[in-house]
Amino acid sequence: KKAVLAYSGGLDTSVIVPWLRENYGCEVICFCADLGQAEELEGLEEKALASGASKLIVRDLREEFMRDYILPTLQAGAIYERKYLLGTSFARPIIARHQVLIAEEEGADAVCHGATGKGNDQVRFELTFFALNPRLKIIAPWREWSIKSRQDALDYAAEYNVPVTATAEKIYSRDRNLWHLSHEGGILEDPWNEPEEDMFQISVSPENAPDTPEELTITFVKGVPTAVNGQELGLVPLMDELNRIGGKHGIGRIDLVENRLVGMKSHGVYETPGGTLLYIAHRELESIVLDKETMRAKDRIAIDYADLVYNGRWFTPIREHYDAFVRSTQENMTGEVRFKLYKGNAIVIGRRSPFSLYREDLATFGPDMVYNQKDAEAFIRLYGLSMKVQAFLK
Ligand code: ARG
Ligand code: SIN
Repeated sequence: KKAVLAYSGGLDTSVIVPWLRENYGCEVICFCADLGQAEELEGLEEKALASGASKLIVRDLREEFMRDYILPTLQAGAIYERKYLLGTSFARPIIARHQVLIAEEEGADAVCHGATGKGNDQVRFELTFFALNPRLKIIAPWREWSIKSRQDALDYAAEYNVPVTATAEKIYSRDRNLWHLSHEGGILEDPWNEPEEDMFQISVSPENAPDTPEELTITFVKGVPTAVNGQELGLVPLMDELNRIGGKHGIGRIDLVENRLVGMKSHGVYETPGGTLLYIAHRELESIVLDKETMRAKDRIAIDYADLVYNGRWFTPIREHYDAFVRSTQENMTGEVRFKLYKGNAIVIGRRSPFSLYREDLATFGPDMVYNQKDAEAFIRLYGLSMKVQAFLK
């Protein structure tokens, strides 16, 4: 018997290794997806082996993550509950997909994750397992074991000689990747509490941002961001660069109370500097490239799209149908958006595209040859006819 564990090297997933061997008598293969978490990938193998795993598999999935998960969600304009840019939500299906692939390659019969029984992540993992290989057995230790607190986990680790780097003072539940860094728990459990400044890791506060504004240009080709300040970059370096610039100016700190799929509200704080810039830029370019009806249709879909990403329904036909529609709307999405970044604000100061529908000769307040103002009179009469009928009735 063999299980593939989604492993980060943190306390919880480290403790799961001996726990699986003890309770399921199985061989444990640890799998760590590199999604740009920029942390302890070094020394991870020794750690996994010391915890009792038979091997560690690390896969660099950053490019695939950007291309197949982040971009479609960005292009769909999906935002969950008005604020959340879904950084953890779309990371789970890609991890779970590779867990399934590895299970198949390694002849494993089970997959295991370290998400708790109270959150969204368990749903996202397991719906992906269902969709991609419904025969795999799913093990979710948090719903089974007697470990209830961080101290329990530390005790268990000590008992089974699991190496732990962090100690008891770790307060926040965090999740980091190329797109964002999330913080939950600790003092954030009271949604009235302002986060402490030292909680933040990839952005400065607006107060500490530079006193002089910085200009930034983002270029898109067919809806895909391709350059920063005129310099062409691959998706992964582009994301890193936007995170660096946005973080430096305090862009993209998001503090929200959200509805979890399992029924409770929870409070989270997210740092999404580069992602915030991309959302604003993409939306801005759409404002000149898309016709009105297409934009309205996209906005309606965006809410459903965000729900399906948040709720872990990535591998569904409806998501593919939405993607097909959205992809077709991006055909002319080539152009540039220009910002001024200043103390937490990303102020749009320009947009242009060879496919722009904006016509200066139409919109101008100066003299024009293409628009006959007299036409407006009859238009308004018909447009408002029903209002006159109402008024006469009253
Ligand atoms: N509440 C966010 C979401 O549901 C973030 C979850 C963070 N997960 C984590 N394992 N720390 O997408
Ligand atoms: C967890 O419960 O494992 C993290 C939070 C969430 O999944 O919503």
